[in-house]
Amino acid sequence: MQYRVLGKTTYNVSTVSFGAWAIGGTWGQTNDDESLAALNRAIDLGVNFIDTADVYGDGKSERLVAALRKSRKDPIFVATKAGRRLNPHTADGYNRSNLTAFVERSLRNLETDSLDLLQLHCPPTDAYYRPDVFGELDDLKQAGKIRHYGVSVERVEEALKAISYPNVASVQIIYNVFRQRPAELFFREARANNVGILARLPLSSGLLSGKMSRASTFDADDHRSFNRNGEAFDRGETFSGIDFETALDAVEELRPLVPSGMTMAQFALRWILMRPEVTCVIPGAKRPSQVDDNCAAADLPELSSKTLDAIQALYRDRIRPLVHAYW
Ligand SMILES: NC(=O)c1ccc[n+]([C@@H]2O[C@H](COP(=O)([O-])OP(=O)(O)OC[C@H]3O[C@@H](n4cnc5c(N)ncnc54)[C@H](OP(=O)(O)O)[C@@H]3O)[C@@H](O)[C@H]2O)c1
Repeated sequence: MQYRVLGKTTYNVSTVSFGAWAIGGTWGQTNDDESLAALNRAIDLGVNFIDTADVYGDGKSERLVAALRKSRKDPIFVATKAGRRLNPHTADGYNRSNLTAFVERSLRNLETDSLDLLQLHCPPTDAYYRPDVFGELDDLKQAGKIRHYGVSVERVEEALKAISYPNVASVQIIYNVFRQRPAELFFREARANNVGILARLPLSSGLLSGKMSRASTFDADDHRSFNRNGEAFDRGETFSGIDFETALDAVEELRPLVPSGMTMAQFALRWILMRPEVTCVIPGAKRPSQVDDNCAAADLPELSSKTLDAIQALYRDRIRPLVHAYW
């Protein structure tokens, strides 16, 4: 495993970390024993950072992570998120009493006195234009309820606005072979402001593992079945917002570029980690075998410039028109 410092938190975190959405819910059938086995395997392989949220399985993901932490001596940093319990989900809802209540609930679920990192959970764009929201986070930090705070964003412009607040320690954003705009301006600005970057959807909801085909089916309670057009939340969170069949064709074009000895998932993760501005990838994993596959990406050799150029050409010709202007 390799480690990089997560911006202003100063946490030295594993470059391949763990995304704990799928083990909470909305990804079809999961089994808690298998989820805990996946978490434990990650820790065995040197992972020391887990991303969760209060809404993943309505707290189930946080509680699984708490069980893991209780059973292990290893230091494990946990980032959670707040805001998505709001209904309706409005910028006004990001007020002191709601944020405090969400934090108190996460503290209970995670069985801790202070959250390592609290992220705003893709709030409406307007929330980034309200200094009071960030003032409330400063107060929670001052009170010792959270150690650091950051944001999880949908759009590049939200990330740029968020890092104008001096105590934003990290930004979580979709960055993968199919979502490259963050690298244009945001990465430079994040680095200049000492802001850590968590790359989510590193496998584009599993697509970039190369295991899917037109015959793939998903359970009714899997967002890959019910959110392809943004029916439940931002459509960009499912397959990076690219229609499934177009993405499958692009995956087939990527396949011959994968160096021998690398799985396609490792290739996708290694590509992200080529960027030093990215602190870590947070692939979701439901079982130990996926963790094995993903963690190995941390120690693989760099991709060649010829391979990088071929990926850029694919992005430019096939993917860019579908995503670049939208997020
Ligand atoms: N708004 C937000 O803040 C937000 C939104 C989305 C995600 N996130 C965070 O980012 C994390 C990562 O994103 P994500 O989980 O949406 O997408 P992802 O990491 O691109 O895809 C994860 C899924 O891919 C499959 N998979 C994982 N490793 C694999 C491997 N080696 N081979 C084959 N399949 C593999 C698994 O599902 P199957 O086995 O079922 O295919 C897994 O659940 C989340 O867990 C969450 O912590 C945050």
